[in-house]
Amino acid sequence: MIARSVVTNLNGLLTPDPKSHWKVDRIDDAAIALEGGRIAWLGKRIDLPAEWTAAPSLDGAGAWALPAFVDPHTHLLFGGDRSGEFNRRLHGVPYAQIAAEGGGIRETVRATRAASVAELVALGEGRLRTLRERGVGHVEAKTGYGLELEAESRLLASYGELRRRGWSLDITLLPAHDIPLEFAGDAEGYAQVVAETWLPELVRRHPGVARYCDVFIEGGVFTVDQGRRIFEAGKRLGLQPRIHADELSWTGGAELAAELGAASADHLMFCSNVGMRAMAAAHVTPILLPTTTLCLGMREWAPARKMIEAGCRVALASDFNPGSSPCLDPLLVLRLGCLQLRLTFEEALTAMTLHAARSLGRGDLGHLHPGARASMALWPVRDPLELVYWVGEAYAPRVIVPEDPCA
Ligand code: NIG
Ligand code: FE
Repeated sequence: MIARSVVTNLNGLLTPDPKSHWKVDRIDDAAIALEGGRIAWLGKRIDLPAEWTAAPSLDGAGAWALPAFVDPHTHLLFGGDRSGEFNRRLHGVPYAQIAAEGGGIRETVRATRAASVAELVALGEGRLRTLRERGVGHVEAKTGYGLELEAESRLLASYGELRRRGWSLDITLLPAHDIPLEFAGDAEGYAQVVAETWLPELVRRHPGVARYCDVFIEGGVFTVDQGRRIFEAGKRLGLQPRIHADELSWTGGAELAAELGAASADHLMFCSNVGMRAMAAAHVTPILLPTTTLCLGMREWAPARKMIEAGCRVALASDFNPGSSPCLDPLLVLRLGCLQLRLTFEEALTAMTLHAARSLGRGDLGHLHPGARASMALWPVRDPLELVYWVGEAYAPRVIVPEDPCA
């Protein structure tokens, strides 16, 4: 990106207002002045201050400028794929049954353990490029397909390398994504090893790479008490909790997120009313994952409206993973947010930008205002609403991101 430039010839810009929960501002015939990777000024083109008129211009080609999407929940790095399992599910075999038979996450664990750091980095870079081309400027990415110390360490090393290559990422440690074969029947023992040995060792080996810690709290996986133990160990290492909560059944994951002051509780298909109110009071971001609901063939959608009414700042994410959401399509997330979670366009946009960024503590991402990072997508549409209205249309935005990734 040019150090100092003005984005001109825009149809307009649309941005969530960070001073409110759900207000979205619209400026027609806008211009945006950029300096050092941040927005220096924005407003109506005719009001562009004189000091900017001679700056190099970046042709907006009649597009609409929106903040780049922030994807706050992905399982970016894994080996192999699960297309065979997918076909079994199309034939009616439930996801939980495949997992109970040793497939599901464990199948991906086998492929991921066999992958080298170089292979994982190449896979990750391809996926990040796809997301970037589709309008995503910043991504949260989890470990969790290693489920042994060395494989989790290789995943973390790969994420470290992706960050060194300039990708804007926040990393979450998820060794408690499932119970590996080596600990079959001993969730308690595995939770103990993760909390007491692996988390400290992973942080020691890869200082500064991970900011968050996650646990899959679910029947047959980890209990709330096992999760609490891992999260408390993570907190002592400076890792803030994000939680796979209430995905396939109610387990009290949202309530635990509120108790711990987690950054987010994610999935929440079976979240209780008490859990919603507790998350709102504790400023936990509920992150809803509609492509997962779609790909699992579930009939009910997460209670987004009830969460908003309870006072929650709901975010949306892709949950990109090889099992329940093999999907790198932010527009599909946006569209399902509107069409199935029944969010307005403005709410779904805010959920994929401002609230997603806030759940990652990135107050300078997810909105366009002076001082914010110049992370934006220029969409070739006459009106931003078309992004949802023309269902299935694959728009190719021009994506502008700062050269230096988030530290
Ligand atoms: O977020 N719920 C746990 N983890 C993933 C699924 C992982 C997989 O099936 O590989 C999820 O849906
Ligand atoms: Fe997930």
